[in-house]
Amino acid sequence: MKKQLNVGMLGFGVVGSGVPQILAESAEKIRQIAGVEFVIKKALVRSADETSELMKRAGRYGIELTTKAEDVLEDGEIDVVIEVMGKIEPAKSFIKRAMNAGKHVITANKDLLAQHGPELVALAKKQQTAFYYEASVAGGIPILRTLVNSLAADRIESVMGIVNGTTNYMLTQMTQLGASYDTALAEAQRLGFAESDPTNDVSGLDALYKMVILSDFAYGMEVSVDEVARRGIEGLSTDVVKASEELGFIVKLIGITEDTGHGIHVEVAPMLVPADHPLASVANENNSVFVKSFGINGSMYYGPGAGTLPTATSIVSDLIAIAEDMKADRLGTPFNVYHMPKKIADDASITSRFFLAIGVPNNKGQLSALTGMLSGMGVEFDQLLQKNQGEQAVLNIVTYPLDLKTLRNILNVLSDDEAYILLDCLRVIE
Ligand SMILES: NC(=O)c1ccc[n+]([C@@H]2O[C@H](COP(=O)([O-])OP(=O)(O)OC[C@H]3O[C@@H](n4cnc5c(N)ncnc54)[C@H](OP(=O)(O)O)[C@@H]3O)[C@@H](O)[C@H]2O)c1
Repeated sequence: MKKQLNVGMLGFGVVGSGVPQILAESAEKIRQIAGVEFVIKKALVRSADETSELMKRAGRYGIELTTKAEDVLEDGEIDVVIEVMGKIEPAKSFIKRAMNAGKHVITANKDLLAQHGPELVALAKKQQTAFYYEASVAGGIPILRTLVNSLAADRIESVMGIVNGTTNYMLTQMTQLGASYDTALAEAQRLGFAESDPTNDVSGLDALYKMVILSDFAYGMEVSVDEVARRGIEGLSTDVVKASEELGFIVKLIGITEDTGHGIHVEVAPMLVPADHPLASVANENNSVFVKSFGINGSMYYGPGAGTLPTATSIVSDLIAIAEDMKADRLGTPFNVYHMPKKIADDASITSRFFLAIGVPNNKGQLSALTGMLSGMGVEFDQLLQKNQGEQAVLNIVTYPLDLKTLRNILNVLSDDEAYILLDCLRVIE
């Protein structure tokens, strides 16, 4: 076994620049555990100005910056490539070139993994190269390795995550300060928690990518992006957030992948979390993943879902895993070896409590007509909260568990009835 593994980086930005810092900080510990020394030789960037701060930072760790991908991909001395550029192309082609050249690959790129993961996993297996991506889900939280190793013996009932820091920060502002969606977004952008184009975060797409990866690790099923139900937090009203709180819930953007007993259901949406649920206390930009399983019952993993050092720590743990694979002669073994035939649950198999906010003329006849109509369609009321606004009222309802098929029928009837305005409908998690 080699005494030194040479590393090439594709990207040296927020995440990439943390990797040499972690390697330096824990050098002796890493050397003892991995049994090798990791040396970063080169990093690919878009522009490498001699006088730039980036160049100085790389120089401090003896890393050569280059703007030519082939300097990394065709360097025969480089054993491991770390892809931290982001987006699909050219990252995907570069990873394939690295694997085809027999190099081991680490990536933090959830967009790429959710859309092309199986293809890359298959290529790594064919080429007998290692392929790890712990940092792609919830940054610094070691959730993928926990599912693969520590929870290997357990039957997973559901994995629920607050896996997007931007939206969790915004929802915390809306809940704790009563901020509007627009104010919360502006504040998140001012503090650097949201990008100038926040679409991927607020639309739930970023969380969806992570739930696709988590579904693979929890159930061995390769779910495609269009099989995940998705709603973001755009348009979420402060009235709904406030009413939920009065009813004893906190609104969070939740990603869930669950075993319904008739297939799995994967969804990302704002949901009501009971105030005493451990996920309710996850505030600001923090992330958390709650795993409900047969043996352990409930376990929660909490920490920073992004940032230079947390994310780089996950990447360096992947480097150590590669050294361990070399020692154990198991290179090419996929990160997750559990596979099952994919079965997606239908609406009738998905059961939950739901929150409904319905605008209705404020008179006794209309309110009792509404509750009577809902009862007739199979709704049982867990909680009711009426908010009067002059001649209008808003009836906030928490139902007892209903299946999603029944709920969709109810929503159709409400939308067609001019007497009522369906203001919102959100799932309640248990
Ligand atoms: N930020 C986080 O906390 C976090 C957490 C978990 C996962 N991730 C994932 O980690 C990856 C990297 O994120 P990041 O925040 O570090 O991004 P970033 O700060 O924008 O860094 C990207 C780096 O890649 C380089 N790059 C991008 N496209 C390139 C191209 N076509 N050719 C050459 N160089 C290119 C950039 O070079 P220039 O600077 O010269 O443009 C920069 O060095 C993404 O997949 C992201 O989803 C990030």
